[in-house]
Amino acid sequence: MRKIYLSISMLLLAGSFALQAQTQIPEVEELLSKMTLEEKIGQLNLLTPGGGVATGSVVSEDVEAKIKAGNVGGVFGVSSPERVRQAQDLAVKNSRLKIPLLIGSDVIHGYKTTFPIPLGLSASWDMELIKETAQIAAKEATADGINWNFSPMVDISRDPRWGRVAEGAGEDPYLGSQVAKAMVEGYQGDDLSKPETMISTVKHMALYGAAEGGRDYNRVDMSRAKMFNEYLPPYKAAVDAGVWSVMTSFNDIDGVPASGNNWLLTDVLRERWGFDGFVVSDYTSVNEMIAHGMGDLQAVSALAINAGLDMDMVGEGFLTTLKKSVEEGKVTEETITTAARRILEAKHKLGLFDDPYRYSDESRPETDILTAANRAKAREAATKSFVLLKKHNNTLPISKNAKIALIGPLANNKNNMLGTWAPTGDQQLSIPILEGFKNVAPNASITYAKGANISDDTTFAKKVNVFGPRIEISEESPEQLLKEAMKLVANADVVVAVVGEASEMSGEAASRTDISIPESQKKLIRELAASGKPVVLVLMSGRPLTIPEEMELPVSILQVWHPGVEAGNAVADVVFGDYNPSGKLTSTWPVNVGQIPIYYGMRTTGRPAASEKFEKFKSNYLDAPNAPLFPFGYGLSYTEFDYSNVKVSDATLSENGSITISATVTNSGDYNGEEVVQLYLHDKVRSITPPMKELKGFKKIFLEKGASQTVTFEITTEDLKFYNNEEEFIFEPGEFEFFVGGSSDNKFIGSFTVE
Ligand code: BGC
Repeated sequence: MRKIYLSISMLLLAGSFALQAQTQIPEVEELLSKMTLEEKIGQLNLLTPGGGVATGSVVSEDVEAKIKAGNVGGVFGVSSPERVRQAQDLAVKNSRLKIPLLIGSDVIHGYKTTFPIPLGLSASWDMELIKETAQIAAKEATADGINWNFSPMVDISRDPRWGRVAEGAGEDPYLGSQVAKAMVEGYQGDDLSKPETMISTVKHMALYGAAEGGRDYNRVDMSRAKMFNEYLPPYKAAVDAGVWSVMTSFNDIDGVPASGNNWLLTDVLRERWGFDGFVVSDYTSVNEMIAHGMGDLQAVSALAINAGLDMDMVGEGFLTTLKKSVEEGKVTEETITTAARRILEAKHKLGLFDDPYRYSDESRPETDILTAANRAKAREAATKSFVLLKKHNNTLPISKNAKIALIGPLANNKNNMLGTWAPTGDQQLSIPILEGFKNVAPNASITYAKGANISDDTTFAKKVNVFGPRIEISEESPEQLLKEAMKLVANADVVVAVVGEASEMSGEAASRTDISIPESQKKLIRELAASGKPVVLVLMSGRPLTIPEEMELPVSILQVWHPGVEAGNAVADVVFGDYNPSGKLTSTWPVNVGQIPIYYGMRTTGRPAASEKFEKFKSNYLDAPNAPLFPFGYGLSYTEFDYSNVKVSDATLSENGSITISATVTNSGDYNGEEVVQLYLHDKVRSITPPMKELKGFKKIFLEKGASQTVTFEITTEDLKFYNNEEEFIFEPGEFEFFVGGSSDNKFIGSFTVE
């Protein structure tokens, strides 16, 4: 999208400030010239008829009347070609200027073909795969009438108490930026007017994942250097990839809520990054600035539009107050025209002025949605998202002829497979683990028992069950459930326990202060581990969990997140060895909540602890180690990978030159498998304290057993740049340490000098 500028770009400071004059679109300009102030304001209004996508009806009285009156620029929560056609009819047949509507939706990890939750997808470290999932989501959603997606969510988070970690790509700005780019490209394709592509929205700008205490919607406060180096890169990567829309976040930044933050929305987003699409608020986030202490509805609406927000989601503050603000001189008509222009340009880009019914082809749902090929991709994506956390006694993979006791509240459960933020998916179409086991291992003898409730706490269950039954507490007592399970265990060769979080124990407004497995299931796990049988824990969750106790038990642990519509088949593929797990964690798993925030790229301290042994007057804890349970980048395989010959091509790197860092990776185990080869650097001396490690490259490779491959990364000084406290993007000469390996917790093995 940045390409459409007539480029007058200037480099100010060392950051890239771009002043642009935009090419105007004659059709849009002509339309704008005919519009009244009210009609322009109408374009800035985004409504939802309520009831969600499944039941939403656009013909509900109020919305219908507002569309006809030209008071609505877009709607969301409306789907199917018929309903969308009805909605467009209201706009193009009844409103004075016949302007078609944007049709939005939250298509977060697949449309009807639900893929694993985004945190899981990111654990595949497979950008091509992630892009393909976004392409499929776009094809399905557009077949159902949607032309604008509220995804990707790229909020960096280092706090697993925050439930929305499930929706993002974890803790790392470099990896997060790659994922942001892949998703935007997947949704938008190379031409937005094609009926199979849709506008992508990067969200939530900005810093939403740093909410204090991990409590959703809470305030954020951080230094500019931390913002630019660690939290803003994925939003920028989406802008660089041409994202057409940006959603603001609920939190404040430097004390000003994002939806009214001029520095963020104008200085950074538009002037420095050259964004020229449109900015939409989050759900009523304009109105919420009243509670933030920014004034009444008129004041916060004026604050928002003057800051650079173009579209008001649901709250109708723009619709009801902007005219008055123009009359009172608090907002200029030019500001409103600029915002309306951006909305109209998006519609033009989508081809809606040529054909408002472009996304209302009644024949498409049948051919494009939930196809066998799409489901196969969902199965593949799920298998690639799983992370093998612990191997014990070679229990995995399990023989397809084994006698298996399949135990646990998530083992035969359709209601929790899709994961959070999957409102367009249908839970009833998901494959539970039991069914998948039977599909993949028809000769195995499989018995099933629930064994425990996800939680025994009825008050907790009620809070989790707002969208339907996720935690179902059995009529039978916990003792009875356990007894039935242990009876099956006694007769089995091997036990597979599917345990963890219900899907809505993470996600929006699902923060937790205790991120361990609920006690009801812990008891079950202890009993299973004490049975003497080989035990595999298949762990489901939307976040990193604290599982130090389970790690001590004689069990194997496979993390499967919430795997999506093909859950059971995918878990079976991995458990029975048809696919060798290759996922790597994209966020650190703490030992306990007290370690949070904990992430691999922490800054240096002047008093680092040299070892895990407690040292007085060093930076460590009396009652817990500094090291996490599992570091970023960690994940095992059924095979083993050895690294050797890690070296740098040159001892010195100069400004316009490049060097390579390489390593030989050998599959020294008994299975073919994939490895995510990771490169980390450490800047030893610089003007602001450096992170202890920074991911600078990764490659996912396949190696047959016994095979070796040399993996090479090229480094230039561009890769060494960071923002200093003057917000300059620079590199500084000096020594850099490096290592290449299969996780972030390795020691540096070499160095080079930058001149
Ligand atoms: C969420 C957004 C979402 C919006 C519309 C909000 O509550 O924060 O991520 O896109 O609702 O559904």
